[in-house]
Amino acid sequence: MIPVITIDGTSGTGKGTLSQALAMRLNWHWLDSGAIYRTIAWAALHHDVPVDDPEKLGVMIEAVSFEVGSRAEPGGIATYAYCDGNSLGDAIRSEECSKAASFVAALPVVRRAVFAMQRESRQVPGLVADGRDMGTVVFPDAPLKFFLSASAEERAQRRYNQLQERGEHGSLRAVLEDIQARDQRDRERDISPLKPAEDAVLLDTAGKPIPTVLSEAWLHALRVFPNLADSS
Ligand code: C5P
Repeated sequence: MIPVITIDGTSGTGKGTLSQALAMRLNWHWLDSGAIYRTIAWAALHHDVPVDDPEKLGVMIEAVSFEVGSRAEPGGIATYAYCDGNSLGDAIRSEECSKAASFVAALPVVRRAVFAMQRESRQVPGLVADGRDMGTVVFPDAPLKFFLSASAEERAQRRYNQLQERGEHGSLRAVLEDIQARDQRDRERDISPLKPAEDAVLLDTAGKPIPTVLSEAWLHALRVFPNLADSS
């Protein structure tokens, strides 16, 4: 069985950074599942398809070609997203796309299409999968599952700082309200709601620098995959 480590939690908890760092350290593949929902959301916005209309989204998903994955780059690992052959780059990271992604992600027609794409990313030698339902629904047999948390206020501050660095405008209050609304949609949807898997390791990342979180996660990885000690 190809090993998988799942990393779920709300946005802004450091899931992306932790999962990338683990994938690089292990030399495993990395699945940024949120990027798939973001790409579908981008296509919906681009084609003027309402993000809460399952029928129209279903038709769009059949008609449009999507390619989302990750590849090693100098100094790291990065997600790529193509829609009908066009590279979307950072366009899928906008606030508009973040919000739209949490609407499309609540629809069974979208989750069904995304499920198969996610499962295909389980390739040798292993996979680190980042998302909301990686441990509960997509890879329930993963031997190691993490669920990351941090307060909405702390996550909003991190996100606000990122937006400032990118020269994007917006108030901290608006960012916090957006995060709270997205959390609520993710937690309360009928299909694959955001919640920790019963066997998940809970990691509170509030106030912790990334190297600390990575060390904690690595200790858990060594416990579950003792052979990794030879390569560390
Ligand atoms: O992780 P990221 O913030 O990029 O995800 C964007 C949105 O996609 C989330 O707000 C969530 O609604 C949705 N998502 C999901 N299930 C996943 C990954 C992301 O519902 N496994």
